[in-house]
Amino acid sequence: GAHFLGIDGLRPDEITALLDLAERYVALNRSASKHSDALAGMTQINMFFEASTRTQASFELAGKRMGADVMNMSMASSSLKKGETLIDTALTLNAMHPDLLVVRHPLSGAVDLLAQKVNCAVINAGDGRHEHPTQALLDALTIRRAKGRLHRLVVAICGDIAHSRVARSNILLLNRMESRVRLVGPPTLMPAGAADWGCEIHDDMRAGLEDADVVMMLRLQKERMDGGFIPSEREYFDRYGLDAEKLACAKPDAIVMHPGPMNRGVEIDGMIADDINRSVIQEQVEMGVAVRMAVMDRLAATLRDARQRERLRSS
Ligand code: CP
Repeated sequence: GAHFLGIDGLRPDEITALLDLAERYVALNRSASKHSDALAGMTQINMFFEASTRTQASFELAGKRMGADVMNMSMASSSLKKGETLIDTALTLNAMHPDLLVVRHPLSGAVDLLAQKVNCAVINAGDGRHEHPTQALLDALTIRRAKGRLHRLVVAICGDIAHSRVARSNILLLNRMESRVRLVGPPTLMPAGAADWGCEIHDDMRAGLEDADVVMMLRLQKERMDGGFIPSEREYFDRYGLDAEKLACAKPDAIVMHPGPMNRGVEIDGMIADDINRSVIQEQVEMGVAVRMAVMDRLAATLRDARQRERLRSS
């Protein structure tokens, strides 16, 4: 069926088309009406098995602005707590005929698995360390607006790469769009397979930031460091926190990004995060709503086409 599970599998022209459609939604969201009927008559269920502020709020707003009936499942108080499995919960909701299921889950692969069990369109809102595809699209839209292109840029992705689905989806997208990605961080926070990802790897932040067009900071994800090495925050900030002195190694017009939620004083100096001449962190959030509208618009169109064909076959 029609799903949106990852950047893996998307062609460059499909990425460009989604970003172009998202631009139309940026304009709509800045207009007085903010509304379209692209999801009229459709039901969208948001299932977040992990905490979220930006992603959940933007999917909810996106669905409502496009005319869907939107329901947020409160997973903390759902029957999962009584031992119901992920798949049984999904099948239960599937029986209520949703059209779109937006899912975040702490386990890599859980969203793909769920997509095989239901007959509605499933959107990956972040699964474990695997992918967070709408985040990569909103980052790409933010970069394209700031730099005018997505090819031949140097993008430094810095910090806790090992635990980051944001890094994985961004690497896939930026490589596909022919930018150069540098991974910058301590060896303890580099994933085992990183050498095969087609990126330069740096453990010295100043060298990693040299001549970068884009500096993308990541959160230190302590909740995923079960039993492993956890650096001290002070030492981490000294070596890998983005401050004015390290940022000076990047191009003078380099933009600073962070997917949120950010830890000020751990991976980024609050002064840099708030510097409107360098930081595009708030614009990333704005682009998030538009990109999610574009993704759901395309899925809804695919669903409508499939249903039309079904009707023709059975008439
Ligand atoms: N960037 C991101 O996914 O943020 P949330 O965890 O708040 O959704």
